[in-house]
Amino acid sequence: MALLFLAQRQNNNWIPLIAIKYIAKFLEMPYIKVYEVATFYSMYNLSPVGECFIQVCTTTPCMIRGAYKLVEACKEKISKNANELSIDSKCSWIEVECLGACANAPVIQINDDYFEDLDKEKTIKIIDQILKGEKLEPGSYRGRKNSEPELSRKTLLENRNAQRSR
Ligand code: FES
Repeated sequence: MALLFLAQRQNNNWIPLIAIKYIAKFLEMPYIKVYEVATFYSMYNLSPVGECFIQVCTTTPCMIRGAYKLVEACKEKISKNANELSIDSKCSWIEVECLGACANAPVIQINDDYFEDLDKEKTIKIIDQILKGEKLEPGSYRGRKNSEPELSRKTLLENRNAQRSR
C-alpha cells in the first residue's frame, strides 16, 4: 500500500497499470494481488485526475447536510460527470464514501486538505478561487475551530440551534 501511495505521488496523483506491475515484480507477488488492493481503496486513482482533485463525501451524514448541492457545484463549475477533467485540465471531482469528518458535514477533500461545513455557494466560491489560482483556506467554513460546537455551546441541552441563530 505504501508503494502504491508513493507511485501515485510520483505520477501526478494517479497510478498507471505499469506502476502496479512494477510494484508486484518488486514485491515478488502476482500482479493481480497488487491490482486488487489498488482497486479496493478509493484513495488510489487509477486514471488521471486534475492537479486540483476534489472528493465530495456523499455518505449519509454529509448527504443529509446537503452534499448533493456540493456535487451540483462541481458539475456546474468543473465537469458534468465525475472523473472528467475540467476544460483547462486543472480540476476533476468524484464522489467518495465517508471522509471521517462527519461532525463537520458536508465535507470535501481537495488534494490533502479538508473543507468543511460547506454549502453550494461556498463550494462554488472555493472552486472559483482554485480556477483563479488563489490560495485556499482549509477547515470549517462556518468559523468553527476543528469540530467544536458552534456558538460556544457546551452541552446538547443548551437550546440555541446553531443553524437558526446565524
Ligand atoms: S459522512 Fe461525510 S465525512 Fe463522514
